[in-house]
Amino acid sequence: MDQIKSAFDKDRNYIWHAMNRYSPDSKPLIIERADGVFVEDIEGVRYLDAMSGLWCVNSGYGRTEFADAAAEQLSKMAYFPMSQSHMPAIKLAEKLNDWLEGEYIIFFSNSGSEANETAFKIARQYHEQNGQSGRFKVISRYRSYHGNTMGALSATGQAQRKYKYEPLAAGFVHTVPPDCYHCPVNNNPENCNIECAGLLEKTINWEMNETVAAVIMEPYITGGGVLIQQDGYLKKVEKACKKSGALLIMDEVICGFGRTGKKFGFMHEGISPDIITMAKGITSGYLPLAATAVRKDIFDTFKGSEEYDHFRHVNTFGGNPAACALALRNLEVMEDERLIERSKSMGEQLLDIMKEMLSHSNVGDIRQKGLLMGIELVEDKITREPLNAGKVNQIIASCKSFGVLIGKNGDTVAGFNNVLTIAPPLTISTNQLQLLTDVVKKSINEVCKG
Ligand SMILES: Cc1ncc(COP(=O)(O)O)c(C=O)c1O
Repeated sequence: MDQIKSAFDKDRNYIWHAMNRYSPDSKPLIIERADGVFVEDIEGVRYLDAMSGLWCVNSGYGRTEFADAAAEQLSKMAYFPMSQSHMPAIKLAEKLNDWLEGEYIIFFSNSGSEANETAFKIARQYHEQNGQSGRFKVISRYRSYHGNTMGALSATGQAQRKYKYEPLAAGFVHTVPPDCYHCPVNNNPENCNIECAGLLEKTINWEMNETVAAVIMEPYITGGGVLIQQDGYLKKVEKACKKSGALLIMDEVICGFGRTGKKFGFMHEGISPDIITMAKGITSGYLPLAATAVRKDIFDTFKGSEEYDHFRHVNTFGGNPAACALALRNLEVMEDERLIERSKSMGEQLLDIMKEMLSHSNVGDIRQKGLLMGIELVEDKITREPLNAGKVNQIIASCKSFGVLIGKNGDTVAGFNNVLTIAPPLTISTNQLQLLTDVVKKSINEVCKG
């Protein structure tokens, strides 16, 4: 008992927690072990982790084969920088090319934010060396998240994540998101003509095509409220980028590695992005690793012999050999256990079970793609006014009290942090899905009785 109290005291003394408001009585979950979809805290309480940590433990917890792959590599050769090379990085880059179904050259880093920063710099230098030095702007959508570093945060379209940290980097422009429940052109799904993609194209034009270096987007906005747009949107965006000469950067940090029921989210529409960024699920969260995959012909622009033609960008830990070896094992396990297909079928089951909640007066919308779900809670279904934040938090707390950890789109866009998020490991079983959905339904019903 003393040990547990001491752990909480020391945590309070020494740890600055991500995202949390300070509270003198904070009692974070101190997780000590984890297996499959379950995590267990230092007091022995078990939870079904329906958020895969931070949307990343796609292959589930407790995979000793991942630990073995990393340990074996650490004993053999623990570190060498990617200004040179090593076999785990080479093998992983080859495997990623298989998964991407295209010809890409891979730049490794450590986090999704860094992968996006890398993409921005590559896009700007590409245009510069391609004779279009006026192209420097990056266009992204409101409600989207692209990372916490100054450039990635500049691309982020969530004012609450930027407030008090501004001014940020110059040259980042935002446009409307494909938010069907609050359609930016007041349309409805039945007669949607994907005008929001047209507005994105207009934004490129209004900014002047010849100043736009790239458009960055997630295939489906995740942390910004799980916005699942109509099919056809990505194709239309791809076309607009091609027409204007802007590169299309797909941020697959969450959507990649099976989360939406395909290897990568962009594959739902069969497009070919110019640059693809990835992190999180690449190692299922077991070790830090990220990658920026760049179309081969873009890389050609960096092969020149002028003094500054090469990409002058390095990070010490990117492409760490143990992380690469583990990632490779992770991708093999996903293939062997058909986790991508599983994400699709279990996601359909999840929607099947949850959709009855649409008759609840506070459940405005339920959006799903693979094992990615957002439940938008409202005060009123006609006005679509968001449910008050207190109630949203009570629902999450209630789920926790019943042993299920779910999330929400926290600190994104003022007044619109009302979407519950569910993204469990892709290994989740039917029984575990039942437990998860029973608890979410019960919690919504208890907190929102009216
Ligand atoms: C879509 C997206 N892009 C980028 C990032 C940044 O990744 P990281 O936290 O690894 O820097 C995140 C993190 O949640 C994300 O959701």
